[in-house]
Amino acid sequence: MPSINRAEPEAQSAASLYKKLYGEPEVHEYIRLSDEAMAAIGYTEHGLRHVTQVATSAAKVLTELGHPEEEVELARAAGLLHDIGNLIAREDHEQSGALLAYPILMRLGYTPRQAGTVMGAIGNHEQLGFPPVSAVSAAVTIGDKADVHRSRVRDYHEELEDIHDDVNYACVESALTVNGELSVITLELKIDTKIATVMEYFQIFTERMMMSNEAANYLGCEFHLIINGTKLS
Ligand SMILES: [Fe+2]
Ligand SMILES: [Fe+2]
Repeated sequence: MPSINRAEPEAQSAASLYKKLYGEPEVHEYIRLSDEAMAAIGYTEHGLRHVTQVATSAAKVLTELGHPEEEVELARAAGLLHDIGNLIAREDHEQSGALLAYPILMRLGYTPRQAGTVMGAIGNHEQLGFPPVSAVSAAVTIGDKADVHRSRVRDYHEELEDIHDDVNYACVESALTVNGELSVITLELKIDTKIATVMEYFQIFTERMMMSNEAANYLGCEFHLIINGTKLS
């Protein structure tokens, strides 16, 4: 009897899987729909600019800390997909987003373990009070919370005195750096204090900074926040 070749399909590298994910029209449609939903409820920009920024930052964090390439690429994938649940509803968008990601990841050839790791990172990026569930999850949380910049405010009107918009709009420069040797992750911001004070910044961003701190600790690092040249944590 002729033998049937039942060899497993060759495993694809996580980098080539990410390339396929980024090229997937369904992903871009969901990112667009999520951003439209956030615009409809008056939230800051959550579109392709934000998610690619988070993907890049998450990948950078793990690269600089010497994590394996597979984790780096899974963090990039989770960064790209982390906010797609917003197209369903803002509340619990991390959980709906993780479940929306599942069929896409499996269709593209991610293994169940890779898909599950990405889903866990998406599902935990807003879980204040819980530690990250993996290095990929920690990196995505840091990347997400570090994306503070005036370009995220859609249509700034000073007279509206919207503190969220004021604080984002006040941020004229932001930079996330990772020092693998010293095990320090630093978010450095330049704030225009004519628009928002450092106190107002803290009022709005305390939770974000707590999550960043916990995520950095998970990765064996300290988290430093520097605003206008002053080290605050
Ligand atoms: Fe989110
Ligand atoms: Fe986000």
